Amino acid sequence: MRSAKDFFAPLAVGAPAPVREVPARPSRAIHFFDPSNPKMAAKVPAMVGTVDVLLGNLEDAVKADKKIEAREGLVRIGQEVDFGPTQLWTRINSLDSPWALDDLTTLVPAIGHKLDVVMVPKVQGAEDIHYVDRLLAQLEAKAGLERPILVHAILETARGVANVEEICGASPRMQGLSLGPADLAADRRMKTTRVGGGHPGYLVRQDPPKGEDGTAQIEAQRATYQQDLWHYTVARMVDACAAHGIYPYYGPFGDITDVVACEDQFRNAFLLGCVGTWSLHPKQIAIANRVFSPSVEDIRHARRVVAAMGDGTGAVMLDGKMEDDASLKQCLVMVDLAEQLAA
Ligand code: GLV
Ligand code: MG
Repeated sequence: MRSAKDFFAPLAVGAPAPVREVPARPSRAIHFFDPSNPKMAAKVPAMVGTVDVLLGNLEDAVKADKKIEAREGLVRIGQEVDFGPTQLWTRINSLDSPWALDDLTTLVPAIGHKLDVVMVPKVQGAEDIHYVDRLLAQLEAKAGLERPILVHAILETARGVANVEEICGASPRMQGLSLGPADLAADRRMKTTRVGGGHPGYLVRQDPPKGEDGTAQIEAQRATYQQDLWHYTVARMVDACAAHGIYPYYGPFGDITDVVACEDQFRNAFLLGCVGTWSLHPKQIAIANRVFSPSVEDIRHARRVVAAMGDGTGAVMLDGKMEDDASLKQCLVMVDLAEQLAA
């Protein structure tokens, strides 16, 4: 186990990215609660064990005049609640706000021994991660913490997306990245007012039928297919995370009532390589736990391929399909995830 002292050596800016094993397990749902809201705070103890991560949110959605109450509420919850198998995370305020420094200098001494991950919003580049890394190292050393607190960045500015590789590799503390579709849409001047998810205007249309004279019938009824506004960014984030050995997460899906579209969006992210997502309401926890766990059929199939492939080389036919060294690796991804989640 690394101790806080290992994090004192500053990472030279521009040094090669450290590729390493992620020390935390994947987490399917990161459930947000507002520690300044007494009703939400009261529900936290009963949620332990029902969700992989409980995150005390201090940033957006907490009013400016409630920031201190939220921070103090999180300290109280962190000190009083036994989190058992559930991880405790926090989302601090952004580094350009008046609250971020006090968030860290208050939380680390008070509940640093319970905090698994600090989520940093609006990360623009490696310099933001270096700042948090150094500050955490000092605070951990001062508090005598043995276990390093990990860092998770939200990808929610155009500059952050442009620098996604260097953000992932900026510190050995990096645990993962989440998409922040609301802030990112605003920063890019996209024209959607939704928080995550698709958009009925972002679509492709089937080709027009041809009339008898061969001309295209532009006005004819044609099927349309809604496209995923977030495909590019999620795919880019997944590649950057995979290259640096950290975890990619989808992020928020704001329409709590549309559980069907939420499930679709989460499943797309899972298929593309994400390990989890955010939950803004308890009903999204169940969706995330289901979607981000490999299905029984997928695991059964993956185990059959592993067994059939023997020493892992060559090719075999299984149910009429060719399996080889590469498809074995795909199956091992499923088996590994199933084992990590069962552990
Ligand atoms: C989340 O923070 C978002 O901006 O979507
Ligand atoms: Mg945001």
